[in-house]
Amino acid sequence: MTGSRILALGHYQPSRVLTNDELAQMVDTNDEWIRDRVGIVTRRIADGETVADMAAAAAGKALASSGLTAADIDLVVVATCSAVDRSPNVACRVAAKLGINAPGAYDINTACSGFSYALGTVDHAVRAGAARNAIVIGAEKLSDFTDWTDRSTCIIFGDGAGAAVVTATADDEPAGIGPVLWGSVPEKSDAVRIEGWRPYIQQEGQTVFRWATTALAPLALQACERAGVQPSELAAFVPHQANARIIDGIAKRLGIPQAIIAKDIVESGNTSAASVPLALSKLVERGEIASGAPVLLFGFGGGLTYAGQVVRCP
Ligand SMILES: CC(C)(COP(=O)(O)OP(=O)(O)OC[C@H]1O[C@@H](n2cnc3c(N)ncnc32)[C@H](O)[C@@H]1OP(=O)(O)O)[C@@H](O)C(=O)NCCC(=O)NCCS
Repeated sequence: MTGSRILALGHYQPSRVLTNDELAQMVDTNDEWIRDRVGIVTRRIADGETVADMAAAAAGKALASSGLTAADIDLVVVATCSAVDRSPNVACRVAAKLGINAPGAYDINTACSGFSYALGTVDHAVRAGAARNAIVIGAEKLSDFTDWTDRSTCIIFGDGAGAAVVTATADDEPAGIGPVLWGSVPEKSDAVRIEGWRPYIQQEGQTVFRWATTALAPLALQACERAGVQPSELAAFVPHQANARIIDGIAKRLGIPQAIIAKDIVESGNTSAASVPLALSKLVERGEIASGAPVLLFGFGGGLTYAGQVVRCP
């Protein structure tokens, strides 16, 4: 059975930077509280751009650096929970924008764990022979679903997109995408919600915080075990960028040193399904991960859902 690997990465963020001081003029909050409790300094906000625009921009960059062309791509998968239109889905819009003809094209919504779910399904599609070269994207425009009068949520979220080109590995080549560990906690579904007609993000912050800092480290460890990799062997840990304190809590329980933990939350905020590929793409672009080195991806959030896998970087 052929496996798959990530061939190239790309990311896109809107140019508008929203600072903590600007938020303090909109709601009763301040820069110190946001930095201490969440770890965010700035986030990007889309102005006029859609989820599909940002997804296509990130995917276009990944495709350009992959050495493949649009004609080579036979599957496009987009993880998002903030697409406004019911149909066409974002994947079809991305394919149209990039000139990809007749790919399999579908969206996945598992909120903040979406990229790892999407990467898992693409790896399975390649292994099953249903695809050979795919683009996997996490893209969100959470600003459309943010109540800008609610200080408990509006300080957290941002917009952006990250993408990976995935290709089948040769028969004699080791798989570059490890087995996915995925799951959910349906009885805690109400802890993060974007529900109803014209909805806003709502959450029980402390419920999510407690769950994330107690339940997730053993699950992230299982993702490592499935790939046959020890946490001490990881070149980087790229978790969902929910809250710097949550990230540090999980990493500490896994014994992962600060130096290899992605902290894109500081400048990008929580971008849900986009946060993992966005942070990963930036680390690779800056040359901080050696080619072929093992990296643990781990998404978690609305649902409550989680998913993670060890990947080898391009
Ligand atoms: C949301 C979150 C940052 C709140 O931090 P917290 O330490 O749990 O804060 P609490 O909700 O206990 O609130 C503490 C106080 O800060 C206040 N507060 C809340 N938001 C504030 C803000 N933006 N600025 C200033 N004060 C704020 C609260 O009103 C409360 O005040 P009180 O003590 O007078 O009642 C934190 O719970 C969290 O990050 N949870 C996880 C959420 C998450 O990751 N969601 C995405 C899912 S992927």
